[in-house]
Amino acid sequence: MEKQKPVVLITGASRGLGEALTYYFAERNYSIAICSRHLKEIQKVKKKAEKLGASVIALEVDVTHSKEVDRLISVTEYHFGSIDIVINNASIFGPGPCELTDYDEQAFRNVLTTNVLNPFLVTKRVLSGMLVHNQGLVITITSEAGITGFAEWGAYGISKFAVEGLIQTWSDELADYEVELCLVDPGEMNTKMHERAVPNCDYSLLEPNQLLPFFDYLLSLKGGRNGQRYSAPDFLEANGYV
Ligand SMILES: NC(=O)c1ccc[n+]([C@@H]2O[C@H](COP(=O)([O-])OP(=O)(O)OC[C@H]3O[C@@H](n4cnc5c(N)ncnc54)[C@H](OP(=O)(O)O)[C@@H]3O)[C@@H](O)[C@H]2O)c1
Repeated sequence: MEKQKPVVLITGASRGLGEALTYYFAERNYSIAICSRHLKEIQKVKKKAEKLGASVIALEVDVTHSKEVDRLISVTEYHFGSIDIVINNASIFGPGPCELTDYDEQAFRNVLTTNVLNPFLVTKRVLSGMLVHNQGLVITITSEAGITGFAEWGAYGISKFAVEGLIQTWSDELADYEVELCLVDPGEMNTKMHERAVPNCDYSLLEPNQLLPFFDYLLSLKGGRNGQRYSAPDFLEANGYV
């Protein structure tokens, strides 16, 4: 099929940062594929993005399963052609604040599967198309907890350390290609995940929408992003946005 518009795929777009990014790309004339584990919720986002004029595919997909990831990406490529940008955003916090000594084994497995296996599966599947065209950008959302150990954040922080290693390793392997893999730390945002991580939070947080000038900057760059780790709050502060 002939491609009319750039194509972005965002995992975990039913709320929080993924939802804000969906409307951001809708306003910029992208074709958009989004998913979450709950059809009703992701369809609400699809409808709002369509009102902004975007073509949107919204699927109920659990990105921890390779078959579902394959379906998500195959459907997107079939309808929209090659994928230009992927945002590995879907993630879970796991149990609320809990010391590792008390951490449940199954919860530990679930958090690592969702936060580490998922970006591995999505990136692996999407790279097959991106490498054919030798172009594409994979943005993986990390956290300050991926470079600093925080008490009581358990498997979440550990999973983000692994995500940092995943992208560092992979970007090094892709050094000779035009395809770029980078990490973005969005900072602390007012979302459902943050409510779980810091119940009764008494300090101010970024709204997901406040990060959008950072994405303008990231997307304006012409190359040079492979292997980079960006801190959105540092960018916003340095440029007078917050
Ligand atoms: N909020 C913060 O302060 C903060 C700070 C640093 C980094 N981050 C990172 O920023 C990103 C966005 O976080 P957020 O705060 O916006 O989180 P959020 O509000 O909890 O949203 C997470 C999204 O991921 C989806 N999701 C979770 N597991 C999934 C799965 N297995 N398959 C498909 N979708 C799945 C959720 O939908 P369903 O539940 O319907 O599946 C939801 O749409 C995450 O990578 C997070 O680690 C957040």
